[in-house]
Amino acid sequence: MVLNVITLPLTLKLRAIQENDNVKLSLGNPSYTPLKTFLKKDALDFHTNDIAKTYVLIEPVEVSQKVWGYVTLMSSEIHLNGHQKPEESPSSVKYDVLPAVKIARLAVDQKLQRKGYGKGLVEFCVSLVMNKITPHIGCRYIVVDAKQESVNFYTHLGFELLTTQNNQEEAISLLFFDIHRYKAVLDAT
Ligand SMILES: CC(C)(COP(=O)(O)OP(=O)(O)OC[C@H]1O[C@@H](n2cnc3c(N)ncnc32)[C@H](O)[C@@H]1OP(=O)(O)O)[C@@H](O)C(=O)NCCC(=O)NCCS
Repeated sequence: MVLNVITLPLTLKLRAIQENDNVKLSLGNPSYTPLKTFLKKDALDFHTNDIAKTYVLIEPVEVSQKVWGYVTLMSSEIHLNGHQKPEESPSSVKYDVLPAVKIARLAVDQKLQRKGYGKGLVEFCVSLVMNKITPHIGCRYIVVDAKQESVNFYTHLGFELLTTQNNQEEAISLLFFDIHRYKAVLDAT
């Protein structure tokens, strides 16, 4: 199955990871090695066994099956602060945790960074959750644990920082994207 991404630039396509994919990503900074290792060692196993689903950016003519970027998704939850809970849903205030999908991994090969592929991958996640999950299963948010270097990338795309003091001081910050609010904005336009 080839999945459609809303605004992927250039000519790469996005599809589920497959057995013979060439999963050697180049990410530069050694702090990103876990992202490379996950793709090489665990992504296919997790995908096949329904732990976390991985979608890869690949050239349209699959001669080399070279992966240029990927995103991995799994089910999750979020513990929001009172003032960040959904205002229009008074009943939800009773719950400490609310349902979410997590962007567990996201990376674009350094040769293709800053060309819109990362944004395309996030838009794919939003579209998947909004169109395939929320009509059938309660899921209000997309969440991500982001390194400080990528926090601005996510806030630029509409994610909000969870406002606890700890969260802002940690090396990894939790951000969330409110699918319901995004849908309301789309409906109003
Ligand atoms: C973070 C990453 C996925 C972004 O992918 P990308 O393809 O380079 O980003 P895009 O080109 O789609 O950028 C989309 C927008 O975000 C902006 N942006 C990209 N990276 C950014 C950053 N680190 N900080 C602030 N803004 C950023 C771009 O300027 C662009 O803005 P525009 O739409 O106004 O032009 C990529 O840089 C990467 O793989 N980094 C290494 C691994 C990593 O950090 N993964 C995230 C772990 S949580």
